[in-house]
Amino acid sequence: MNKLFVSLLLALGLSCSAQAADGVTGDVAAGQAKTVVCGACHGPEGNSVVPNFPKLAGQGQRYLLKQLHEIKDGKRVVLEMTGLLNTLSDQDLADMAAYYSAQKGSVGAADPQWVARGEALFRGGKLDQGMPACIGCHAPDGAGNAAAGFPHLGGQHAAYIKKQLTAFREGERTNDGETMIMRGIAAKLSNKDIDALSAYIQGLH
Ligand code: HEC
Ligand code: HEC
Repeated sequence: MNKLFVSLLLALGLSCSAQAADGVTGDVAAGQAKTVVCGACHGPEGNSVVPNFPKLAGQGQRYLLKQLHEIKDGKRVVLEMTGLLNTLSDQDLADMAAYYSAQKGSVGAADPQWVARGEALFRGGKLDQGMPACIGCHAPDGAGNAAAGFPHLGGQHAAYIKKQLTAFREGERTNDGETMIMRGIAAKLSNKDIDALSAYIQGLH
């Protein structure tokens, strides 16, 4: 493992454990009832069929809860969800995160023209430029690391992944913490790298 990668992991581990003290336990059944309105965009059981709306099914609970708090607080801007979380309590958000994390995520198909390039980047990174491989945090099958809050990516819509990687690169999404881990990684990706990774991830499982 290269030095950069080890230091990134350490920094993330430290900042993650500092955020863990939420203290609210989510309830899956309560979450199901509270997510009826979300299904219009995120799909039945969180398996969205619209490429711009992310799938939430099978996503890690910790990552989901972090995003929900940050969307609510405006730290991550999601125009489509404006005002939607305003009246919800910490318990509501925890229940919704518990519900989606307990559902089974669907997988798409990878556009064959991008698979080889996407796989090489996902598994190998760009070590000559100090960019770590994605598998170090998001796992070889794209399952992520739920306990650490590293999101599940496998099977996610390519259009959504492309939008996120571009937003990290352009500094439009900034909720990846003080380590700026995803902004640092995305800065090393060309448009074609992003197309390849997005296509590969859509079929990954
Ligand atoms: C009108 C459509 C719409 C509705 C309704 C909606 N969302 Fe979203 N949601 C979006 C879009 C679009 C994004 C991604 C925005 C982006 O590209 O960054 C998103 C992102 C998210 C994310 C982050 C996913 C990730 O992988 O980082 C979570 C979590 C989420 N929504 C939960 C919910 C919940 C819970 C509800 C119901 C209370 C809800 N959403 C209702 C459109 C919607
Ligand atoms: C050192 C760990 C680490 C590495 C390596 C890493 N990521 Fe991430 N990634 C994260 C973390 C942590 C987040 C969540 C940031 C947040 O909390 O919003 C994330 C978020 C993402 C997201 C947004 C997911 C969503 O649902 O919105 C995408 C897409 C992503 N990473 C793709 C990649 C790709 C592609 C690579 C390799 C080129 C990569 N990551 C390498 C840690 C990592």
